[in-house]
Amino acid sequence: MKYYLTTPLYYVNAAPHIGHTYTTMAAETIARFKRMQGYDAVLFTGTDEHGQKVERAAEAIGKSPQEFTDLISAEFRSQWEKLNIRIDRTIRTTDPRHHKVVQWLFQRCMENGFIYKGSYTGQYCVYDELYVNEAKPGDNCPECGRPTETVTEENYFFKLSAFTEKLLELYESQPDFIQPETRRNEVISFVKQGLNDLSISRTTLKWGIPLPVEAKHVFYVWFDALIGYMSAVDGTDLWPADLHLIGKEIVRFHAVFWPAFLMAGGAPLPKRVFAHGWLLFENDKMSKSRGNIVRSEPIRQVMGADALRYFLLREIVFGQDGSFSYDALVGRYNSDLANGLGNLASRTLTMIHQYRKGEVPEGSAKAIAAIANDTIDSVQQSFERFEFSKGLETVWGLISAVDKFIVECAPWKLARQSDETSQKLLDETLYTAAEALRIVTALLAPVMPQSAPKIWAQLGMTDSIENVTYSKLSWGGLKPGQQIGEVAGVFPRLEAKAAIGQMRDLEEKVSAEQAALIGKKAEPAANVAPTSPKIPIDDFLKVDLRVGLVKFAERVKGSTKLMHMKVDIGEAEPRTIVAGIAEAYEPEQLLNRKVVIVANLQPRKLKGIESNGMIVAASVEDGKPVLAGFHEDIPPGARLK
Ligand code: MSP
Repeated sequence: MKYYLTTPLYYVNAAPHIGHTYTTMAAETIARFKRMQGYDAVLFTGTDEHGQKVERAAEAIGKSPQEFTDLISAEFRSQWEKLNIRIDRTIRTTDPRHHKVVQWLFQRCMENGFIYKGSYTGQYCVYDELYVNEAKPGDNCPECGRPTETVTEENYFFKLSAFTEKLLELYESQPDFIQPETRRNEVISFVKQGLNDLSISRTTLKWGIPLPVEAKHVFYVWFDALIGYMSAVDGTDLWPADLHLIGKEIVRFHAVFWPAFLMAGGAPLPKRVFAHGWLLFENDKMSKSRGNIVRSEPIRQVMGADALRYFLLREIVFGQDGSFSYDALVGRYNSDLANGLGNLASRTLTMIHQYRKGEVPEGSAKAIAAIANDTIDSVQQSFERFEFSKGLETVWGLISAVDKFIVECAPWKLARQSDETSQKLLDETLYTAAEALRIVTALLAPVMPQSAPKIWAQLGMTDSIENVTYSKLSWGGLKPGQQIGEVAGVFPRLEAKAAIGQMRDLEEKVSAEQAALIGKKAEPAANVAPTSPKIPIDDFLKVDLRVGLVKFAERVKGSTKLMHMKVDIGEAEPRTIVAGIAEAYEPEQLLNRKVVIVANLQPRKLKGIESNGMIVAASVEDGKPVLAGFHEDIPPGARLK
């Protein structure tokens, strides 16, 4: 039975980062999981290479769009290879194979009466490549907050409005078409408001697939890109897809537009769209302008790809937003992988070598056997629902049960007793630990495709771990008498500070390499505003800048941006200052921090609190503010001039 699953087709306007890795690793885990259930799973990923964003990004560095997309799409491919992610099918939207399928589906929609030519004047968001019907000139895009541009175009329209009812019926009759539930509810309420027809062609750019009916129009990038899921498997029986795995921000395209295009063309619909949450960096959205993008390569080099995959799937509840931090990454590695799994493997195998000359003995503890069999079932159930974190927690439950069992049996003591009962008990302890380790390793194989086979080989297993299926995996599969392999640590303990330092250094190197690849100076520079006209020094001296020491900070209730602070600037009482920095700093980060205060600004009331001064911070366009501070010691109240 086939199981065809996809990641999004990633845009090539920026190089790959950990956000893309997150989806692709999760998708590959699902593919491996499905294979363990006996499916022929086929994993797709691709690149979305057309559109204005790419055209502009290429232009900005003096390259043709094709040269540019060649470079970046190669980066994506090499990233998946390095991360040991097995991709079975792929497409670049610039591939002529893909163009044919796009034109075919368009023709089908046209023949079925769902395409017409019309004209549109209104606001357009280049970033999202979307018409913003509700916006007026000068308004920002409601999706991304960036300014919209006014455009007038003659376009081909897709009669999306004709699909309102059909889509609602689809969501009703196939309740798991969109998951998780929160995303399903959002989509349903969006569609219930009624759908507008959608312009699916553009004449304002050249970098796209020409419409077969009028070549000066190119396809709207989303009409083009979504069809990539089909064109990648054109000529096979893999369509329809069993699963589209995506991030939550593109659920509307996948759960509304895409099924409507397919219905209009008379093509089968995908079975399911699952939208996971965002991966945040230290609780902040990752973005180029914030300069807080994390790449996978440094992590791979220091800890290995499996450790990253394990962390992402264990730490974050799949479907919800979650935070990435180096501290948490290394913390989990040391506690779960080095101490937990790694330790169980090395102590079990070492004891079999020491006490039984490397030969698996016979005997089995019923209590652990029962826990292991339950674990197999419950991990399978959790993974089936994409509850990776829960599934992995269950595996670690088995690991702790075995650890406890080993400590209770104390094989090191039994080994010193020569009576038959002790020796039998030792056999039983060792077999039980090794068999539990075999089951744990097999259960982890979809999440740790590099490390699991290593432990597997150390257990002396000769059949490939990739052939293990859940139906074959039950207690007792390990053969007594089997010779185990040589023991080698799979997850060496990391010294946290050194590992984090190494990853941060590598991160700078990799980001500079990526920037150099596309001929750009390292980020962010592009967003820095030009300097203002010159002023006499007296004008500057009118501004009374002081060193301040933050004594108190809390968020202003009812505001996401404002922080209420009391700052000592050498006066009898600390000043009350309200500043728009709450999206960039936690109150605890501010306490006892030395900052720069404009001390002679006229007071201003913000959300009912009178602010008596301003805190000085630097920022780039749509980046977060960064507070000015001091490296050397300086008392509060000292003047800056
Ligand atoms: N080209 C479109 C998709 C077209 S699919 C027919 C696109 N590309 S993208 O490069 O912006 O990739 C977005 C996807 O990358 C997200 O939906 C998600 O799968 C993944 N992610 C990128 N950054 C991410 C995070 N910070 N967190 C979670 N997922 C992330 O949209």
